[in-house]
Amino acid sequence: MSETVLLVGGGGREHAIARAVTPDATLYACASNRNPGIAALAEEIRLVDERDVEDIVAFAEEIDATLAVVGPESALAAGVADALDDAGIYTFGPESDAARIETDKAYQRRFMQDEGIPGCPDFETFEDMDAACDYIDAYDGDLAVKPAGLTGGKGVRVTGDQVTKAEAKAYLREEDYDRVVLEERLVGEEFTVQAFVANGEVRPTPAVQDHKRAYEGDEGPNTGGMGSYSDAGPTLPFMDAADYDAAVEILEATVDALPDYKGVLYGQFMLTADGVRVVEFNARFGDPEAMNTLPVLDTPFLDVLTAARDGESLPQLAFDDRATVCKYAVPAGYPTDPESGAHIAVDEESVAAAATETGDALLFYASVDAREDGLYTTTSRAFAVVGVDETITAAEEIAEAALAAAGDGLRVRHDIGTPDLVQRRIDHMADLRE
Ligand code: AMP
Ligand code: GLY
Repeated sequence: MSETVLLVGGGGREHAIARAVTPDATLYACASNRNPGIAALAEEIRLVDERDVEDIVAFAEEIDATLAVVGPESALAAGVADALDDAGIYTFGPESDAARIETDKAYQRRFMQDEGIPGCPDFETFEDMDAACDYIDAYDGDLAVKPAGLTGGKGVRVTGDQVTKAEAKAYLREEDYDRVVLEERLVGEEFTVQAFVANGEVRPTPAVQDHKRAYEGDEGPNTGGMGSYSDAGPTLPFMDAADYDAAVEILEATVDALPDYKGVLYGQFMLTADGVRVVEFNARFGDPEAMNTLPVLDTPFLDVLTAARDGESLPQLAFDDRATVCKYAVPAGYPTDPESGAHIAVDEESVAAAATETGDALLFYASVDAREDGLYTTTSRAFAVVGVDETITAAEEIAEAALAAAGDGLRVRHDIGTPDLVQRRIDHMADLRE
């Protein structure tokens, strides 16, 4: 049977999902923006808010969707997967109750504690900001201050890193969140492992390292992610196979405790001197991490989706053993004061020409506004390039060549995936483990 897939979301992550399903399925998409990369692959993009449950179900029924894939967490939180499932359209993405593992950080930590999931930092939850400030004063050590709800990765403040304790308290008083989690600051190197999950099974994908800080050298505020890299194999240069296995065991323990979970389970881990700890879980692919993982997935993604839907065992995953480096181009001023409405020129053919004999150059569009006379920036990440090659260094060189071809006017973290920065990660971990 030929499959008709509905994709919810219109960012770089969703462009990567669209690219992964379209060799094998007919694709329709719905999103609040018209992503030109998805537009080139889909039969139609219906412009709707990703949280508009009724309109999304109506569109899915209109196109006779046989499957749906949800990209953004906002759609999961709004119950898009619940409503599509109820309408008889199997959705690869958890229902809103299971998505609380991402959408409610207080629940996430309590869940880990109650279920005995390894890697949970010490934490406390507060609704009263005065009590939270007292806790910061009394706590012996640094803390991560996290609003319990969704903030697009931009709400966390870490003392001893980005802010002082006084600044953290001022932040809590100013923002006056309904609930916050205060937890032990984890020190080490962060990495992501995403797994396909359905029918109680977990199929992990290679580790990826994202770069959340806005500026080179890991300076500046947190962003949704400025770029990311993966190696030619499941681990990263600063970790060993046992660290990767520990992360996978945490994902497996999580799914044992959430047997009905379906979709992508994303673990954000900190490799510390005492082993692997959990920074957070997400209930969907990472953005940018999806752009590292899906291009090297040799198993057809559609086979994973149909096995999940049909209650069959998920296929064992095969990966093209190459490294990837992804770099996002973002508007000037992103994330604090982004300049939208700037005209950008992206020449797709020149980007593709950055490929080498062993390597590929890929382009993924994100939050760009396609008007009659070309592409314009919005307030969010505009597009990403991905180099895929035998080593991280070779992949990085391709990504840089592809960026040069894409034109300027946007800001990029050129240090992502460079030998210098990767070596700094290795040295950092070696120092901590001494
Ligand atoms: P989150 O929104 O939970 O992904 O947090 C955003 C970023 O804040 C993470 O990628 C980390 O860099 C940092 N962070 C979150 N929790 C902690 C923690 N317990 N210790 C250190 N850094 C953290
Ligand atoms: N790359 C971080 C995220 O997708 O949440």
